[in-house]
Amino acid sequence: MHRLQGKVAIVTGSGSGIGQGIAKRLGSEGAKVLINYRGSEAGADDTRRFIESHGGEGVVLKADVTKMDDIQNLVDTAWSRFGSADILVNNAGLEIRSDFWDTKVEDYDRQMAVNLRGPYFLAQAFVRRLRDAKKPGRIVNISSVHEDMAFPGFTAYCCSKGGLRMMMHNLTVELGPLGITINNIAPGAIVTPINKTLLEDKPKLDALLAKIPLGRLGTTDDVAGMVAYLASDEASYVTGATFLIDGGLMRDYHEQ
Ligand SMILES: NC(=O)c1ccc[n+]([C@@H]2O[C@H](COP(=O)([O-])OP(=O)(O)OC[C@H]3O[C@@H](n4cnc5c(N)ncnc54)[C@H](O)[C@@H]3O)[C@@H](O)[C@H]2O)c1
Repeated sequence: MHRLQGKVAIVTGSGSGIGQGIAKRLGSEGAKVLINYRGSEAGADDTRRFIESHGGEGVVLKADVTKMDDIQNLVDTAWSRFGSADILVNNAGLEIRSDFWDTKVEDYDRQMAVNLRGPYFLAQAFVRRLRDAKKPGRIVNISSVHEDMAFPGFTAYCCSKGGLRMMMHNLTVELGPLGITINNIAPGAIVTPINKTLLEDKPKLDALLAKIPLGRLGTTDDVAGMVAYLASDEASYVTGATFLIDGGLMRDYHEQ
């Protein structure tokens, strides 16, 4: 199936985890993909090789979404290498655990800068080029069930994801007239490096699994399929929504 043929996608943080799954999926559905990484290039190269082995095209670019020059470079490189940037997936993110009363200002700032300010200004750079070229586009933010659901010990993370939800609500209205849709995906617990500590703590993991009606953790493929749909022509009338991919976690309720 090549429903994204002719499209160009930027996927931030696509050298690992959910971003890697998304980039691979968009690439194998025909999109040309700008694969972004910040730390080690090895994962991003794996993503590129996977896309190429499925007949697609990918370019790897190092960029830090907290840096304005890097943000602009992501958009400009997509246009110079592929002639456009039609799909933006704001996936890069990080979470730092701390009780509210112990949160350090640098940890708060870092989470806000990566999880919220980066998506905001990358979306701005992405939209400016599309607006000038009078082209439509798609923005998908990988937020979290914690754009809405409390997560004690991760208040700054939740604030950043809650901000991403409001950004999406606002931009639905501001970008609609430009033909640009924007939606959030709210994953629950997905098996990726971000959850390393949890995955290695069996009692904690079992307690979490007991709260997931479908009884398992999610995979990066579970998320990637929704991104491919939202980026495709089939979703041309879909904007302003958050899509939960959490096995039912958000709806869990039991009386003891
Ligand atoms: N795994 C889960 O259970 C889960 C649940 C809900 C939401 N999420 C969200 O999914 C997204 C992806 O996380 P993941 O689970 O794949 O973990 P991950 O740690 O594998 O991925 C995060 C990616 O972001 C990149 N990144 C971090 N800071 C960056 C920066 N300044 N510039 C560019 N890239 C940067 C990292 O290099 C990494 O590739 C995050 O936004 C996360 O909050 C994950």
